[in-house]
Amino acid sequence: MSQDSDVIEGVETQQLIFGRWPLWATLVGAVSITSGLAFGYDQGVIGGAISFMQDEFGFGSFVEGMITSWVTIGALVGALFGGGLADRWSRKKALIFAAYLLVFGSIVQAIAPSVVVLIAGRFIIGAGVGIASVAAPMFVAESAPAKLRGRYVSGYQLAITIGIFVAQFVDYGLSEDGTWRLMVGLGAATGVLLLLAAYPVPHSARWLISVGRRDDAAESIRKVRGAAEVEGQLAAIEADLQDQPSAEWSDLLIGGARKALIVAVGLAIIQQITGINAVIYYSNEILAEAGFETASAQAGASLIAVGLVNVLATFIALAFVDRLGRRPLLIAGMTGMLAGLAGLTITFLYETTPGDTHSIPGSLALISMVVFIASFAFSLGPVVWTIISEVFPNQVRAKGMSVATAVNWGAAFVLTLLFPILLDGIGHSATFGLLAFFTVISMLWVARMVPETKGKTLEEVSAMFSDESTT
Ligand code: BGC
Repeated sequence: MSQDSDVIEGVETQQLIFGRWPLWATLVGAVSITSGLAFGYDQGVIGGAISFMQDEFGFGSFVEGMITSWVTIGALVGALFGGGLADRWSRKKALIFAAYLLVFGSIVQAIAPSVVVLIAGRFIIGAGVGIASVAAPMFVAESAPAKLRGRYVSGYQLAITIGIFVAQFVDYGLSEDGTWRLMVGLGAATGVLLLLAAYPVPHSARWLISVGRRDDAAESIRKVRGAAEVEGQLAAIEADLQDQPSAEWSDLLIGGARKALIVAVGLAIIQQITGINAVIYYSNEILAEAGFETASAQAGASLIAVGLVNVLATFIALAFVDRLGRRPLLIAGMTGMLAGLAGLTITFLYETTPGDTHSIPGSLALISMVVFIASFAFSLGPVVWTIISEVFPNQVRAKGMSVATAVNWGAAFVLTLLFPILLDGIGHSATFGLLAFFTVISMLWVARMVPETKGKTLEEVSAMFSDESTT
């Protein structure tokens, strides 16, 4: 309550549109939402499209794996370059470039005459998603006020989940006709939306100061946050940049930045090794094992159990990430994920009869999957992106986020590649048991290593890390 009234008081000093809505909120929200949508849609759409591509081109499982995974590889490469582009060109121009790649890559996929062109299109899309996945949360974290930063970066995660849901829905709707070219082509719309959102935003003040454009930085703060904020913000950003003006990649390995890197990379890996994308990509298979027999029964169930639950539970994070803080959400969510994985481990100890969705193991699989997805959605999903975007000092934020985000995509790639191999090799139950084990280790690591950052300005967060590193 007190937080809300603070926010509303703050609004009085800011530029308002529609009477009372702050301008910065609209601009930052639009970037956050459109880049998240692109991330989710382009990652999610392939699930329902791949079998129709296979019908047309007649490829085997190796090529199927390539087509599925090349978005992830492209995103890894895009993320690695994304930080450099965000520093050199600005966060805004990096986002605009990413948006053009999304449009171009979607068109290439939609008109692809051959598998090679299709894979090239997937890679281009991936590069766009990767660049945006560094530049967007960075831009959002740098532009939102400290008290609402968690909520705004979590809004990005909300949009990712909506993107995945929309993709599943489009796949479902178009599956009768098998029009895969339309499914992937619609990705261009996400690029166009990102372009529309990114063009009007002013550059991030933190970036402008880092390239010596102080007057423009003052103007940017005045425009989005109001005149009352200009002096205080300029002073805080400049003081932070003065502490450590140079910004080499090797600076990431020194002092507070190194601590931040360990936390960010650790969380990036944990977000993936606890199995979210394996469960999302293979949800139909899990549902089949749990007794949902036909492809359309599986698609329908996973639209709700995965897609919708993922969207809805993210609202819990939006409501609480800036009130309760990052750590309580992480610990509570990972406990829920552990319960879900334990349920899946137990379910698959039993053989189920296909079609028998009401048997105890069948419903347990479904409930466990829902618990797992919902728990991820209010914890590791939004909170990891939030923390990655806030722990690095201003001067190395772009580089640090590049590394952490690329590691996140790399881990996603490895896990989705290994998951089917593990299922075949050690079986379903042991595979989920292994993910549960990773979750336990991850919880212990988070409890020990991840500090609470709610409510602090980015400069205070980086001071917190450098203080810790000297003790
Ligand atoms: C993760 C993705 C995941 C998505 C699911 C994101 O935060 O980075 O890998 O697919 O959440 O909602």
